[in-house]
Amino acid sequence: MSAGILIRPMTPEDVDGTYLMSSLALAETADEKEQVLNRTPEEVEVRKERYRHSLEQDSEGSWIAADGEQVAGVALALVREGIWVLSLFAVDEAYRNAGVGRRLLDRALEYAAGCRGAMLAASTHPAALRRYALAGFTLLPTLMASGTVRREAIPPDLTARQGTKKDLDLAADVDRRLWGAAHGPDLEFMLRTGGRFLISECRTGRGYAVEWKGYPAVVAATAPDIAADLLWACLAESTAETEIRWITGQQNWAIPVALEAGLSLSPAGPICIRGELGSLTPYLPSSPFL
Ligand SMILES: CC(C)(COP(=O)(O)OP(=O)(O)OC[C@H]1O[C@@H](n2cnc3c(N)ncnc32)[C@H](O)[C@@H]1OP(=O)(O)O)[C@@H](O)C(=O)NCCC(=O)NCCS
Repeated sequence: MSAGILIRPMTPEDVDGTYLMSSLALAETADEKEQVLNRTPEEVEVRKERYRHSLEQDSEGSWIAADGEQVAGVALALVREGIWVLSLFAVDEAYRNAGVGRRLLDRALEYAAGCRGAMLAASTHPAALRRYALAGFTLLPTLMASGTVRREAIPPDLTARQGTKKDLDLAADVDRRLWGAAHGPDLEFMLRTGGRFLISECRTGRGYAVEWKGYPAVVAATAPDIAADLLWACLAESTAETEIRWITGQQNWAIPVALEAGLSLSPAGPICIRGELGSLTPYLPSSPFL
């Protein structure tokens, strides 16, 4: 099935096909596929906006596998201040196990030339894990916490406040310490598309979070107590099911928060790292932008 497949740079015309193919490829169960097909037009648009953002910022890292007019696979990578991130990687089920994923990942990794570090948040798909490990990544297992937040557990004395544009430099400093680069345009993208910017600063340190519909999309701080305060501030906004994702062994500070909030822990896909990065803790990354 891979013979007639062309790996080529993504164009704006590929966004619709990429959206549907990748959303269905990443949905693991029939229920999840059904949910993808039932997304509201607004939800669909935010995701497509993310692919357009990738194209605008990182056209050299944006690749698709094309079978004629059809999008058969995609790999979107970004580079910020010398750190490479894999933002999206998926191949249509009909084209898998024929080397399309490897060819896409190789192209996306060419964009990492000259970078000092690389990072991605992986699914649990065995083929993905094989590709990442063979590409030289170290796989850090993670837990996720999910459920409905016990409202009475939310601490009454949270210090996190609403962030403003003036706090973007604070976030950039924290990012550089934690993962080695500033999120820059990606943080602005998250805030433009519904993310709420939270800042916590006190004697022990400082940090920021992006809360999106009650989910902690990113939590990054210079001290665990600040990170915990920000995580609580995100959870305090949740009104239904929420998830804390990417809890590696370095993020044990997040476990008491998850348990106190009444969430359930379960194993999830690894964070994959290569080369030189920041301290990576206390830090809950965003999966598309890390
Ligand atoms: C991950 C993904 C993109 C790989 O695409 P692909 O075109 O199948 O990739 P390739 O054919 O190049 O490689 C797949 C490899 O996994 C191996 N593989 C497949 N299923 C496997 C399994 N159940 N256990 C172990 N290895 C497996 C294949 O043998 C192949 O290895 P090889 O090339 O060394 O023989 C595709 O499986 C996918 O879209 N998965 C769902 C979405 C997803 O999880 N994406 C990753 C997000 S982080």
